[in-house]
Amino acid sequence: AGPNYIRNFAIIAHIDHGKSTLADQLLLKTGTVESRDMQAQFLDGMDLERERGITIKLNQARMRYTAADGCVYALNLIDTPGHIDFGYEVSRSLAACEGCLLIVDASQGVEAQTLANVYLALENELEIIVVLNKIDLPGAEPERVRREVEEVIGLDCSNAILASAKQAIGIDEILAAIVERIPPPADNRGKDLRALIFDSYYDPYKGVIVYFRVIDGELRVGETVKLMRSRKEYQVDELGVLSPKPVKVEALYAGEVGYLAASIKAVADARVGDTITLKRAPAAEALGGYAEVQPMVFCGLFPTEADRFPDLREALGKLQLNDAALVYEPEVSSAMGFGFRCGFLGLLHMEIVQERLEREYSLDLIITAPTVVYRCTSTDGGELTIDNPCELPDHHTDLREPYVRLEMITPKDFVGALMELAQQRRGEFVDMAFLTEARTTLVYNLPLAEVVTDFFDELKSRSKGYASMEYSVTGYRANDLVRLDIKINNEVAEPLASIVHRDAAYRVGRGLVKKLKELIPRQQFRIPIQAAIGSRVIASEAISALRKDVLAKCYGGDVSRKKKLLKKQAKGKKRMKTMGSVEVPQEAFMAVLNIG
Ligand code: GTP
Repeated sequence: AGPNYIRNFAIIAHIDHGKSTLADQLLLKTGTVESRDMQAQFLDGMDLERERGITIKLNQARMRYTAADGCVYALNLIDTPGHIDFGYEVSRSLAACEGCLLIVDASQGVEAQTLANVYLALENELEIIVVLNKIDLPGAEPERVRREVEEVIGLDCSNAILASAKQAIGIDEILAAIVERIPPPADNRGKDLRALIFDSYYDPYKGVIVYFRVIDGELRVGETVKLMRSRKEYQVDELGVLSPKPVKVEALYAGEVGYLAASIKAVADARVGDTITLKRAPAAEALGGYAEVQPMVFCGLFPTEADRFPDLREALGKLQLNDAALVYEPEVSSAMGFGFRCGFLGLLHMEIVQERLEREYSLDLIITAPTVVYRCTSTDGGELTIDNPCELPDHHTDLREPYVRLEMITPKDFVGALMELAQQRRGEFVDMAFLTEARTTLVYNLPLAEVVTDFFDELKSRSKGYASMEYSVTGYRANDLVRLDIKINNEVAEPLASIVHRDAAYRVGRGLVKKLKELIPRQQFRIPIQAAIGSRVIASEAISALRKDVLAKCYGGDVSRKKKLLKKQAKGKKRMKTMGSVEVPQEAFMAVLNIG
């Protein structure tokens, strides 16, 4: 079948608006998956994803659908990740499509991510089919939300589809609309091969599996391909399509979506956004839009037991085979011993990697507070990038930090509270607009460092869960920043150092020593805790020595309770590092995040 019988589409939505549930319904309705084979949400394959209810890695599925005209169409669904950390992957998977379904929860409305995704879809000139989902909910107001989408996004919603992914309402209309309204791919079969990589993952047996969309030409098994950015060459061992299980094919043609295996060692060798061409007949120019993703957030990872360092190194190596955005290098500190400095796309990415290290590799880790990447000029005029606050030299000039453009969408009742929050976090007001009578968008320029702490949690709590946010990094800016050191028992605790604005240094310093006083268990001796800028102490507290009778109390009570307690302590004890002869628990390393 030629391109006229192919439709390539994605589903875009704000988190929790029902993307995965709808994808499952499309797979069921087209008979691609039998309901008895359907695990809860087929496209979200990873356990972690299912537990967290979010889509981390995108995926694809080819469905066969007989339309009203009696013809059989191949509908290629390209799934997109649902979180801001993975925005670049969303943009690449959209570039592999001609159209998309825009899912909006009819009981909620337009959210920050809805907007961000729509902008990406419009940039890629996609046909957008609006689906108002969850109409089964008693609180659903499809007419209000339809007006909202029209007013806010400017999309014609006269033919928006009312649906319930949960109760399988509107699924036929959606399938029909995909065929009727989304244009078929252009017929570029006669050209030199160009295929866009929109995802890849590491398979221990076949090497990296690369997902791609053929834009021009054709690709056959056995051909040698060349990746135009990495300049690497590979012979194709296997070609196939996902339906959603892999089905091998001999060739893929312009307009089609599929996967290849070619004994590629790590996903970093076949990065999302790269262009595949043929070695024997290379295309003149790579496809546009490629961007190297840069880690934005760094933290230290240290095994609690020093002898597990080699295990940690091996585990990170394995994770990196599958995660081109993860970077790490060894870090040694007198307090922490051997560990790694690791870079991530954002906080969610960081949490996912940490969780996998602990779960899949049974590693107990001490994790230091996340920090952004600063830049400064050293005294000899060199340009330094600082991803570890304790490495900021005492003498430097021109310390710069990354800034983001932050967009918040909120019911109007919470505008005041959110403006206050943004201002407290050094936000610079850019714009405010009324999306509808009830909802407002607020735009701020704000240091990334202020966003990676507890900003999202604060936004949610100050808006009773109703506000949403979205941000993108815009550049670097010089500010009056200082390194805040923490001393425990008169020794500098390097992993607790942070970089803060000078105006906030006293408040943060006072808050931090107070918090540490609560978090660090008492010992047999008195422990002074201080915050300092250079040699100047700006805040101090002390933990008084432990009295004997407090210990004695622990030994009363019933046996099972005591056992539980001991077990808990044993576990808790693992998550400690000794600094200045004092045992410092994991929570203390994160204390700086909650000062606000
Ligand atoms: P991400 O994968 O995180 O982007 O979320 P998602 O957009 O894929 O949302 P998902 O499909 O996981 O649905 C989120 C929640 O909404 C789940 O609890 C679903 O059961 C529920 N849900 C989805 N569609 C409907 C619907 O039509 N009606 C009702 N009542 N609930 C729905």
